[in-house]
Amino acid sequence: MKSIITLLFASLFIPAYAAPFDKGDPAEGMALHNKSCVACHNSSMYSRADRKIKTPAQLAARISGCNANTGAGWFPAEEESVGAYLNQNYYRFK
Ligand code: HEC
Repeated sequence: MKSIITLLFASLFIPAYAAPFDKGDPAEGMALHNKSCVACHNSSMYSRADRKIKTPAQLAARISGCNANTGAGWFPAEEESVGAYLNQNYYRFK
């Protein structure tokens, strides 16, 4: 009985899913973003009232698409860092 209670209690502290972009480095992401992404829009694009991105998956897809479109040449880990930067500062998905 005691072990069941211990198990139940322990499970309260295991997050159901990992935070989005938690493998990215926001500082690296900021540098990459500021180099390749501010030619057309500044960061107000990410906080506009009718912004289009509603989920972490959409954000990841948009970063990937913009990476390809702009020829930034980012590796997946770098896209993750840009995601970490944008999420931490603008989108705040949990
Ligand atoms: C050639 C111009 C251009 C460049 C360069 C560019 N973007 Fe964009 N981006 C746009 C336009 C235009 C929109 C708005 C599209 C819309 O309203 O659907 C947009 C929208 C976005 C959005 C969605 C904002 C929202 O929530 O509504 C994200 C995220 C984004 N861009 C990320 C990036 C990233 C990351 C880069 C750098 C790799 C980048 N963009 C470079 C033109 C550009």
